[in-house]
Amino acid sequence: MRTQIVIVGGGPSGLLLGQLLHRKGIDTVVLERQSRAHVLGRIRAGVLEAGFVNLMREAGVAERMDREGFVHHGTILAHGEEQIRISFEDLIGRHVVVYGQTELTHDLYDARDAVGGKTVFNAEGVTIHDADSDAPYVTYSSDGTEHRIDCDYVAGCDGFHGISRQTIPAGIRKEYEQVYPFGWLGLLSETPPVSDEVLYSLSDRGFALCSMRNATLSRYYIQCALSDKVTDWSDDAFWAEFRRRLPRAVGDRLVTGPSIEKSIAPLRSFVCEPMRWGRLFLCGDAAHIVPPTGAKGLNTAASDIHYLYHALVQVFETGEIEGIDRYSEQALARIWKTQRFSWWMTKLLHRFPEQTEFDLRIQRAELAFLRDSRDAQTVLAQNYVGLPY
Ligand code: PHB
Repeated sequence: MRTQIVIVGGGPSGLLLGQLLHRKGIDTVVLERQSRAHVLGRIRAGVLEAGFVNLMREAGVAERMDREGFVHHGTILAHGEEQIRISFEDLIGRHVVVYGQTELTHDLYDARDAVGGKTVFNAEGVTIHDADSDAPYVTYSSDGTEHRIDCDYVAGCDGFHGISRQTIPAGIRKEYEQVYPFGWLGLLSETPPVSDEVLYSLSDRGFALCSMRNATLSRYYIQCALSDKVTDWSDDAFWAEFRRRLPRAVGDRLVTGPSIEKSIAPLRSFVCEPMRWGRLFLCGDAAHIVPPTGAKGLNTAASDIHYLYHALVQVFETGEIEGIDRYSEQALARIWKTQRFSWWMTKLLHRFPEQTEFDLRIQRAELAFLRDSRDAQTVLAQNYVGLPY
């Protein structure tokens, strides 16, 4: 088989890239290690930057998102009983859209089906060959048969645990990492959201987050110990702890109900450089991870897709490789800024096991500065709504 671009990984980044390229007449094959049901069963964040929304529109897959997504004009940071509202609208005249990643992935698959894009699910043993030559190819097996796809380029959109990053020789790759000493326990429930806007709360007991998918579906999180297991947390235990970490005025109006999903995610900051090796390009989680505190995971993947998409269109339409040569540098410049923001939000809003009394006062001072300074709020708003690309 031959195609122009093999996209390794059928999550939202790979699918979005495939859809954008399809509209330019560029042929792709998507290889996904899991089943479609598995990919669509993953519950992920749901806050989209304006840049992401624009890319979905450019890809022609924004119809349901535009109809069902919720425009959010601000967010709230709570500290003890105090609530600081950050008005994106007043500060910078911009907004974010709340629309679940699961829904968005659905829409992207529907769009790919509609245009007859080739997607291989349950692809086993995916291996990228000769990425540093002019004739890369990818092998995999499915249904017990070995397959080979020759291509011009490979997009590695296969996440943190994928094979794409490992394909770059260890001597060429440099990895930067920070692991945080806690995780997030997330719960999804069919209850009305306690807050109209995403609310981040720091209490003496640790961090809590109120988010939502729609008017009757809430997504909540609490900071938990790394050693905790989902089975350690009954729904009742979650609700009790969650309520304690919210300002009383918010906790008092919390509606609880049975969970329909519960999971624990570790928090990590990670960047791999470079993001390109020959004809292989890393995108999204394959190259970098942020802690979820600023809701940047999918949004950083989107900026990679934006740069790669334009670089590939340029090379196929004009033969000019300038965009390809600049991809890694361009993507990383924005990624490091987003890393900084996510790290900062995480430090600002969590209780760390090793925190001293001094550290706690600094955290308190930083929140007070944010409450009192329009400039500080503007910086937060710019980063939260998304840096330009
Ligand atoms: C979510 O809706 O799941 C969500 C929202 C904001 C975050 C992280 C996750 O910072």
